[in-house]
Amino acid sequence: MKRREFIKKGSLFSAGILASTHAISAMGGILGADKNINIGVIGTGSRGGGLISVLNGIEGVEVVACSDVLDFRLEEGLKRAGSKAVGYVDYHELLDRKDIDAVLVTTPFNTHSAIAMDAIDAGKHVYSEKTMAKGYEGINALVEKVSQSDRIFQTGHQYHSSRLYNHVVQLIEQGEIGEVIAFECQWNRHGDWRRPVPDPSLERAINWRMYREYSGGMAAELSSHQIDFVNWVLKENPKKVMGVGGIDYWKDGRETYDNIHLLFEYPSGVKAKFTCLTTNALGDYQIKILGSKGTIQLDYDKAWISYEKGFEKELGDVDGVSGATLNHQSEKGRPINITHIDPTRQALVDFRDNILSGSKPISNVYTGAHTAVAVQMSLDAMMNEEIISWDEKYSFR
Ligand SMILES: NC(=O)c1ccc[n+]([C@@H]2O[C@H](COP(=O)([O-])OP(=O)(O)OC[C@H]3O[C@@H](n4cnc5c(N)ncnc54)[C@H](O)[C@@H]3O)[C@@H](O)[C@H]2O)c1
Repeated sequence: MKRREFIKKGSLFSAGILASTHAISAMGGILGADKNINIGVIGTGSRGGGLISVLNGIEGVEVVACSDVLDFRLEEGLKRAGSKAVGYVDYHELLDRKDIDAVLVTTPFNTHSAIAMDAIDAGKHVYSEKTMAKGYEGINALVEKVSQSDRIFQTGHQYHSSRLYNHVVQLIEQGEIGEVIAFECQWNRHGDWRRPVPDPSLERAINWRMYREYSGGMAAELSSHQIDFVNWVLKENPKKVMGVGGIDYWKDGRETYDNIHLLFEYPSGVKAKFTCLTTNALGDYQIKILGSKGTIQLDYDKAWISYEKGFEKELGDVDGVSGATLNHQSEKGRPINITHIDPTRQALVDFRDNILSGSKPISNVYTGAHTAVAVQMSLDAMMNEEIISWDEKYSFR
């Protein structure tokens, strides 16, 4: 696709404000018809590397720089990004480059807030991976920084961009499953969640997910996506958070839990459960939204709907003659089929379009902050064995 066509398509897609082949960037400058959005990727480990490959397939963006504190990771990132990209061990040098419009922050959880704030200060648009920031201080500081800036800030909860998830949220809003009563969410896997370490001195740098200083464990790494979804559906933040976790199977020196079980109560009375296991993968990733008339089940990129007894007919899901339930292809119910692309690709396409149109991302600093607060409440609940109540000072607007 030529740049000209891409801009047209982009503007249609995002209902943007592009009037000509010159895209007016949110920077107040002009991105010329033949100019790509120049991107720097900070943290070229597994996610950063993956996102570079996705960006390579998206029209109108170009990865021109990478930064990583580990030389072999930086090399891998540069290899993926191609010959034009320049590498920096110190991300400040990447931020100093005036020709870079936007950055991806794909570093460990504890570093997101400081790096994203530096990037905003340097005038860059930011796509910052989930969970947005670690700890109340880091969350607060980043919200303040972004609120005072005209930069685009997108939090990397990519399911928020999924057109399938958006469609499901609409169905729920239209009352398709009646009144929402509860959510059951899980992300189960089988494995110790460790990465191979080439040298023992790199244990903490590579397996940062295992250590509390850098990581929020499975609550931040896995449940956060599903917490973000529940907050989004309910348009609420959890009133109370309780939970337990433990290091019960992988007793290998790790500090973050190998299983977690969280229960949230929302102001509307809705309850939401979030479970992560590392020793039994049954069911993998799932979200069940349980309503008074029916249930929607979601996995990464598929959704199904089923109806409670007595509501099949009202909702057109039963054969009028035989009484048989229609179109059920599995015990999960009828598939919800809509056209959509991989959520991560969609999230990056949306980031590009938001930069071009100056629109606020749907997964923004406020939604990201509310999820990050709920993650921190979950950690406090599990570690201190307390029920944690939402503090209104974290209801950012
Ligand atoms: N949205 C998703 O589905 C998804 C999936 C995977 C990971 N992530 C997120 O992406 C982030 C990174 O995860 P990962 O699995 O890629 O971790 P990783 O350890 O593979 O990569 C992180 C990289 O950041 C580098 N780094 C650390 N400090 C740095 C600094 N100051 N400057 C530059 N580089 C630095 C590390 O050396 C490492 O190479 C995490 O926040 C994680 O939650 C999101």
